[in-house]
Amino acid sequence: MTAIEIRNLSKAFGPVRAVDDVSFSVESGTVTGYLGPNGAGKTTTLRCLLGLVTADSGTALVDGRPYTALERPLAEVGAVLEATSFHPGRTARDHLRVICTAAGLPVSRADEALEQVGLADSAGKRVAGFSLGMRQRLALGTATLGHPRVLILDEPANGLDPAGIEWLRGFLRSLAHEQGVAVLVSSHVLSEVQQTVDNVVIIARGRLVHQGSLAELTGNGDRPVRVHAADAARLAPVLEAKGARVEQPQPGVLRVHGVGAETVGQAVLDEGVLVTELVRERSDLQEIFMELTREK
Ligand SMILES: Nc1ncnc2c1ncn2[C@@H]1O[C@H](COP(=O)(O)OP(=O)(O)O)[C@@H](O)[C@H]1O
Ligand SMILES: [Mg+2]
Repeated sequence: MTAIEIRNLSKAFGPVRAVDDVSFSVESGTVTGYLGPNGAGKTTTLRCLLGLVTADSGTALVDGRPYTALERPLAEVGAVLEATSFHPGRTARDHLRVICTAAGLPVSRADEALEQVGLADSAGKRVAGFSLGMRQRLALGTATLGHPRVLILDEPANGLDPAGIEWLRGFLRSLAHEQGVAVLVSSHVLSEVQQTVDNVVIIARGRLVHQGSLAELTGNGDRPVRVHAADAARLAPVLEAKGARVEQPQPGVLRVHGVGAETVGQAVLDEGVLVTELVRERSDLQEIFMELTREK
């Protein structure tokens, strides 16, 4: 089921086309990464989706409606935008209880949510003393208080340490895959969300540059086969004769482009060369990301 649908969305701030004709959708039960460098237009898109900014044209819908038309927005959509502020003097538990009351949720949800985001031990502490990572967790607890079917998170990994990022990954994947929540999560750091997301939408300078699965992203392009062999130099002309382009980045190592691993293996067998490693290189996602989003 399509939970979030962005269609031909555009928003300019004066001469800056922050979001320029962007279209994508997010299905229930999946985590979608909304990726792009700083200034790409991610936050503006999410603010349009949440009715905080009025788009110049196009639509941004949650469950087929604009956010502002939802009857019980807190129970339908959870969101954490950048620079979330909390009343510093309140404890984490009180912060959530206030929201429960305002949203018509049982106050017992406050402690459940704190447990779910790993803040149970800090429930009675004042938010003023929270680290950035703890604030991110509290923001996530706030966003999920009403068991929303749609979760929108803007750079939630900011300020989390590696253990926190690992925890976030599990949290988001279980919400999506076990509870069917549609999760849209933005980041300017691909590696932070690489293992979290099912799909990616990449934006640069306000324009969509890629949409699809991560596998599709890495599957594109020529992935060279790397061969380690003391006698590697002997293989090079044989492979070139088979149409390969061969680099020798260091003695005893070849990077073979344009032919499959099977062709390389056959050449190894024919030449009787002792090989200590033969592997198809994995494309470097970060490199692809940089290439796609590079200033032109
Ligand atoms: N309220 C605003 N007024 C003027 N320019 C803005 C405003 N919000 C965002 N921008 C500009 O729009 C572009 C996209 O910003 P933003 O959506 O915050 O990108 P991201 O979240 O991907 O870093 C940037 O050039 C930014 O400076
Ligand atoms: Mg942003």
